[in-house]
Amino acid sequence: MNQSRRTFLKQGGLLAGGLIAAPALLARSAPSDTIRVGLIGCRNMGFGDLSNCLQQENVICGGLCDVDEEVLMRRAKDIEETYGIKPPLYRDFRKMLEDPELDAVVIGTPDHWHCLITIMACEAGKAVYVEKPLANSIAECQAMVSAVRHHGSIVQVGQQQRSGQHWQDVAAYVQSGKLGQIRRVMVWGNFAYGKGNPRIPNEAVPKNLDYNLWLGPSAHIPYNPNRLHGAWRHTWAFGGGLLSDWGVHLLDIVLWTMKSPVPKRVSAFGGIYQYPNNLIETPDTLDVTWDMGTYNLTWSHVAGNELKQFGRTYGIAFMGADGVLVVNRQGWEVQAPNGAESDLLKPFEVGKDSNHLAHAADFIQAMRENRDPICNIEAGRDAAVLAQYGIVALRSGQTLTMGDDPYDLSHQPDAQAFAKPTYHSGWTFPHW
Ligand SMILES: NC(=O)c1ccc[n+]([C@@H]2O[C@H](COP(=O)([O-])OP(=O)(O)OC[C@H]3O[C@@H](n4cnc5c(N)ncnc54)[C@H](O)[C@@H]3O)[C@@H](O)[C@H]2O)c1
Repeated sequence: MNQSRRTFLKQGGLLAGGLIAAPALLARSAPSDTIRVGLIGCRNMGFGDLSNCLQQENVICGGLCDVDEEVLMRRAKDIEETYGIKPPLYRDFRKMLEDPELDAVVIGTPDHWHCLITIMACEAGKAVYVEKPLANSIAECQAMVSAVRHHGSIVQVGQQQRSGQHWQDVAAYVQSGKLGQIRRVMVWGNFAYGKGNPRIPNEAVPKNLDYNLWLGPSAHIPYNPNRLHGAWRHTWAFGGGLLSDWGVHLLDIVLWTMKSPVPKRVSAFGGIYQYPNNLIETPDTLDVTWDMGTYNLTWSHVAGNELKQFGRTYGIAFMGADGVLVVNRQGWEVQAPNGAESDLLKPFEVGKDSNHLAHAADFIQAMRENRDPICNIEAGRDAAVLAQYGIVALRSGQTLTMGDDPYDLSHQPDAQAFAKPTYHSGWTFPHW
């Protein structure tokens, strides 16, 4: 992408944050313009996201960044073998963000880094594809929304199901009213990985890893390979367990379909009942109820096995007076009351797992068209915060009651303590 586009982007951001009412996004980029995308956090999902971006026309890899040298070198080799280029390599994302030729970054780090890196990328004038959940706390999500809107940045959140046709069909079906009034929506995810890894002794940090930069703003937690790559999800400082890891995908579909992002009250019960010897802080068993005003929304997980509800290990059940629609990534069906034959009965439809590719395509297209992508920052915030309400209710032992500002829990100080993390090691909480 040429320099004038980046300049326009920056001007758009400045105007959007100032007194002049201006469209948030002013830039234009022809499809023939090359877009350079860099990746921060290369090991797993981020690399998949980058690869999907690179499949789009006129998109090239503008750099790779990871704090684990082994991961970085492996992914550099992958890029060279697949695309025949040697992108710039970085160990510190701040250096990558200084590159004026870089148009966008994919953020595939653990959740505790999403907020700072997204905001710093927006400040550097980059578009951002940030993985879900948007962040690891309510306050970080809010800061990100403010910063993104101030800078007029293009941000896609990695809730890729929005780009999947069968999820769009489900939303349309539920919204058509054919199920009758929806009074209850059940969401569940009984995944084996939720039990985490066995507890083993802490170890010396390996030479290939910059562990301080991996920890970043979080409190210092001793290095242990069983809570590092992939396994960080089960430590509160880095992630939120199954509810925020998998749950946000499904909760996002509920909010999108039901158009009701903010609950009135939230309660949660659970604990580590079966795996006390594993290296986990997040519950292996959890039930959350959100009072959404006109319907009850529930999440449940029993981690460590693949128990099924409605015949599925994970899914959503929209329950109306005239039927239940059950959906997961494999497809969806409608069950009529009492198993009766009716025109509501719909065969199970196998969905194609093309959601990730379509989501990346939408991100690139949004950059070219200067529009919000299909999962914008507010949608990412709404799903992540809904999960965080459940986490805060569980950790504080309180039923949350939302006030006028649903993101402010200061009227419940015990809960508020879990709504905003303390930043450490010289990193300061964003001022947004
Ligand atoms: N959308 C989806 O379907 C989906 C699926 C899986 C994971 N995810 C999300 O993707 C993100 C990454 O998950 P994962 O499973 O790939 O994790 P992972 O632990 O496998 O990979 C994270 C990578 O980030 C690197 N990293 C950590 N701190 C860094 C920093 N400061 N700078 C640069 N690199 C850093 C790590 O070294 C590691 O290589 C998470 O937010 C997760 O929730 C989304």
